[in-house]
Amino acid sequence: MKGMEIVGLGKALPGVRLENEELKEYMDTSDEWIRTRTGIGSRYLCTGEESLTELASGASLKALKDANVRPEEIGLVICATCTTDYMVPSMACAVQEILGIPGGVPAFDINAACSGFVYGLQLVNALMRGGDACRGKRKYALLIGGEQLSKMLDFSERSVSVLFGDGAAAAVVRASEEKRFYCHTAAEGDRSALYAHTVGRNQIPESAYEGRQVVPENPLQIRQETAEKILRDGYLQMDGKKVFRFAVKALAGEIEEMELRSGICAEDIDYIVCHQANVRIIDYVRKQKKLPEGKFFMNLREYGNTSGASIPLALADMKEKGLLRPGTRIFCVGFGAGLTWGGCYLEF
Ligand code: ACO
Repeated sequence: MKGMEIVGLGKALPGVRLENEELKEYMDTSDEWIRTRTGIGSRYLCTGEESLTELASGASLKALKDANVRPEEIGLVICATCTTDYMVPSMACAVQEILGIPGGVPAFDINAACSGFVYGLQLVNALMRGGDACRGKRKYALLIGGEQLSKMLDFSERSVSVLFGDGAAAAVVRASEEKRFYCHTAAEGDRSALYAHTVGRNQIPESAYEGRQVVPENPLQIRQETAEKILRDGYLQMDGKKVFRFAVKALAGEIEEMELRSGICAEDIDYIVCHQANVRIIDYVRKQKKLPEGKFFMNLREYGNTSGASIPLALADMKEKGLLRPGTRIFCVGFGAGLTWGGCYLEF
């Protein structure tokens, strides 16, 4: 059997926790609006002194400790993120360096936005089974989901910035002959529903910031309107209604997909751990499928939407609360920008 199991989990959060009420200082919003439309009560945000590198390596250290695994035993490092600190090298290589994971094993990042952790699990399984990762004494994989979404939020714009938070969580994973694992991932290219450009500030003439007519200052000859678009699109843009419709369809579809693959119906599964985007998305699907409250683990009230970090953060919290006991069976479902989505079945 080509199974796989998570043997350790760890999380790291930034130092600042911002309540809904505190956002009123920066924009015209209210705790009531945010709570009723999203279920979010607070979020953690990196201060100027904190970075995703710190969060990702902090979460990884805790996951290794939880699994009782040494850096020398890691045979693969993958980081799922869409908010990397460096264009090069990858966050995975940065974590490898900081944790002292010896060289000679693959380390790289993936970007599947909020589906990143599910995509990552599928990749880990494929590389362990079909590739030659995690051989001999280095049989464990380190999979990180980490985001610093605050990098791409415009805090003067209320409809998107209230939804997101920063954080990281990591899992230590190994192949297993006893624990079953199934996974499915998919995408449908759509650049309008949810996107943020890389800003490329070094390419934007200074005059664009001051609203002056641009005199081309470099060989790229960037025009004023292009410079303004680059600046605006560097912030996360979202068509909320379109994303809502996509998300409920993806979540319901992946639950059905996992029911088929695992042979276990959603009523009998212990927990559904889905991307923590919005309580209304989860409630809509829960009611549609006539599932009881409590079937879906939720922590978005505290963290907001942390994109690729949200599923591993939920798993880490569940472990802390003693909800992941031997024999616990769960469906995980991710959905997000791309558009990407995916589900997996995990046994503990
Ligand atoms: N505070 C107060 N008022 C606000 C805020 C805010 N933070 N944001 C928007 N409003 C106002 C709008 O200006 C608008 O006012 P108007 O009627 O006077 O024009 C009104 O509230 C309604 O705005 P809508 O955008 O229509 O609000 P909607 O009910 O669609 O809710 C939301 C917005 C919560 C984003 C919703 O579309 C949604 O749940 N979408 C799903 C997308 C999602 O969850 N994305 C998360 C990231 S995607 C992912 O992770 C896959």
